[in-house]
Amino acid sequence: MALHRLLGMEIGVPDPATLDDFYQEIGLTGSGGQWGPDDQPGQIQLVEAPYRQLRRMRVACEGEADIDRAARNLDELGIKYETGDGQLRCTDPINAWEVVLEPTEVSDVSTQPVRVVNRPGDRPRTGARAEIILEEKPRPPRRLGHIVTGTPDPVGTLPIYEALGFRVSDTVLGMVFFLRCSPDHHNFLITPGEVPYLNHYALEHDDFDAVAKAASIYLREHGEDKHIAGPGRHQIGGNQFWYLQDPSGTFFEFFADMDRIEDDEAWEIGTDWDPVNSWSVWGEAQQPEVFFRPTDMDAIAAGWKDRQG
Ligand SMILES: [Fe+2]
Repeated sequence: MALHRLLGMEIGVPDPATLDDFYQEIGLTGSGGQWGPDDQPGQIQLVEAPYRQLRRMRVACEGEADIDRAARNLDELGIKYETGDGQLRCTDPINAWEVVLEPTEVSDVSTQPVRVVNRPGDRPRTGARAEIILEEKPRPPRRLGHIVTGTPDPVGTLPIYEALGFRVSDTVLGMVFFLRCSPDHHNFLITPGEVPYLNHYALEHDDFDAVAKAASIYLREHGEDKHIAGPGRHQIGGNQFWYLQDPSGTFFEFFADMDRIEDDEAWEIGTDWDPVNSWSVWGEAQQPEVFFRPTDMDAIAAGWKDRQG
């Protein structure tokens, strides 16, 4: 029994309508603040809020035993939660967003045809142009894969998520924690931040062709100032990435080919990653500074302080 999937997130922004247009543009389906890939409807929910923020994260567990275990663990930490309708709901006492555990059937997204690729000594695509050249519409994102947050207290935040059933995949400097609630290398990250904030969210694509095509289309339409980082391939998690900025100011990532961990006991947690040189195998050597302090951080910090009274 375990957590097995990131089901979705709710984000709050001052003007949700701009994100409705955006999610439609990048190929998600939905309307009126509820968006997702075709077979994952409503994975992203939007509400109006005074500043951009993560409001809720929904996580799938296998059953009642997972809920009971999380409840016992939270009791031990003295953290409040509610149960009802078979779910557990816990407001993170440090960061104020809510985490919901929901018993859900184990499943993955549907598979799409693998693109036929030529490589030295193995050249199955003959007499045909590459599929990405011929496709009428770019392949849409397949699912929400991970959420990255900043918090003023990463070390204090970690035990909350371990209590809920998340597992640590890798850590950097003892204050960046890559956590998973599925076999994905990471579904949720805790990183240092001035106040709690949504650093980025990541949408999985079928392959790198899809990542690069979707990112290029977005940049051609909206201009290079929406480019944040990439393309590249992370050492930690292995995912190929391209980071962009959505109309609300939040960074989003198109990614493909992330590491997968099925045997929790056999996985060795990396704790000695070089913080400067573990950003990308190729492309930019280092993580751009803007990740650590987004340009709207002052507005987020002011909003957070107002909310705390
Ligand atoms: Fe990411």
